[in-house]
Amino acid sequence: MNTITENVSLSKEVDMENFWMPFTANKQFKAAPRILKSAKGMYFTTVDDKKILDASSGLWCVNAGHCREEIIEAVHKQMMELDYAPPFQMGHPIAFEAAKAIAAVMPAGLDRIFFANSGSEAVDTALKIALAYHRARGDGQRTRLIGRERGYSGVGFGGISVGGILANRKAYSGALIPGVDHISHTHNLAEMAYSKGQPAWGAHLADDLERLCALHDPSTIAAVIVEPVAGSTGVLVPPQGYLERLREICTKHGILLIFDEVITGFGRLGKATASELLGVTPDIITMAKAMNNAAIPMSGVAVSRQVHDSIVNAGPGTAIEFFHGYTYSAHPAAAAACLATQDIYRREKLFDRSLALAPKFEKEIHALRGEPHVKDIRNLGLMGAVELESRDGAPGARAYDVFLKCMEKGVLARFTGDIMAFSPPLIVSEGQLEEIFSTVKKALHETA
Ligand SMILES: Cc1ncc(COP(=O)(O)O)c(C=O)c1O
Repeated sequence: MNTITENVSLSKEVDMENFWMPFTANKQFKAAPRILKSAKGMYFTTVDDKKILDASSGLWCVNAGHCREEIIEAVHKQMMELDYAPPFQMGHPIAFEAAKAIAAVMPAGLDRIFFANSGSEAVDTALKIALAYHRARGDGQRTRLIGRERGYSGVGFGGISVGGILANRKAYSGALIPGVDHISHTHNLAEMAYSKGQPAWGAHLADDLERLCALHDPSTIAAVIVEPVAGSTGVLVPPQGYLERLREICTKHGILLIFDEVITGFGRLGKATASELLGVTPDIITMAKAMNNAAIPMSGVAVSRQVHDSIVNAGPGTAIEFFHGYTYSAHPAAAAACLATQDIYRREKLFDRSLALAPKFEKEIHALRGEPHVKDIRNLGLMGAVELESRDGAPGARAYDVFLKCMEKGVLARFTGDIMAFSPPLIVSEGQLEEIFSTVKKALHETA
């Protein structure tokens, strides 16, 4: 039986065997666990009282920093007043207020908000909205969904079907939803290694969508879903002009464009959305991670009025228009956390802060060029990746070792394959950025 000492001073042993950990090598982890017991601001504290600088905002989600009193108080107050209310055929004020607050920061026109509880649910919701939209307009033969290679859109069957990650798909290949195809990813080291911000090369890669239109006929395609910047497969920044071209092709063929902004939303890139930063407006945006600072599970889908109205106005007015929803959609506690978080973002101008810090982040991360094992560095906003040469026959092993060494030295980074990813909370200081990347440098030097 593996156990951890939950708190060194109390010496309380906790049996670890019942928790089947997500996206974790369970046996490896339980043999040498890394357990966090508390957090504040930029730092986690481990059970053995070590402070760890959070260079990844938890899982790209704690954008305002940890344990914000305003959020805790708002949730506490809400739970004392109304712990839960059914969201089907009933309402509660804070759900409508949270939708208004989210709509206020979405691109103009994308102001109808559907709530869910995870990025995966937001993606499946968005895909269903796309199908329902075409059907409501008498265009029900548009059933095909297009994703992108190296896309991560969560772990629901919709998400893994449009997603482009082999490991997430292969065990379930017989059960993926039918009629899905993928455009090619945008990553090409020969053309874009060490790009700062958007690579100059690669706008033409969007034309791969025309290839699929020619193959399937656009009249069968409901929607295309892409992350504006692919996060989980290693921060793949869209080439200049690429998203614009995707938008043009979708508009030309009546295909809905969905941006999966689960990672890029709420200041990660210096604006409320990647859409706003990059000047390309999709028809639907999925969001989750930093929506309420990850205090309570919550996600959402922002939908254009045209898409929303086409669905909602299609019925007789007395029937449910969209047969979809979750028991916890707009949960009062999550909605309270959302309002408090959005208030922090506004009051502390955290999106502006992120934009202003981006050049420093870029300078520090690109200073790792030439260090051991590094073969590419890329960044946009407060999001960046350092790609490492893989060890022969052991993909991912080197980045895992760098990750462990960073932890030992007091920095929490993320790794995916042999790519280290960084996305600190937007409250990070310039000194902390220096500390993060100087720690990574030391870790690289100590790694074989
Ligand atoms: C772009 C994107 N979409 C969807 C998801 C799924 O979110 P969740 O893990 O909350 O289901 C993620 C999670 O990392 C993501 O990065």
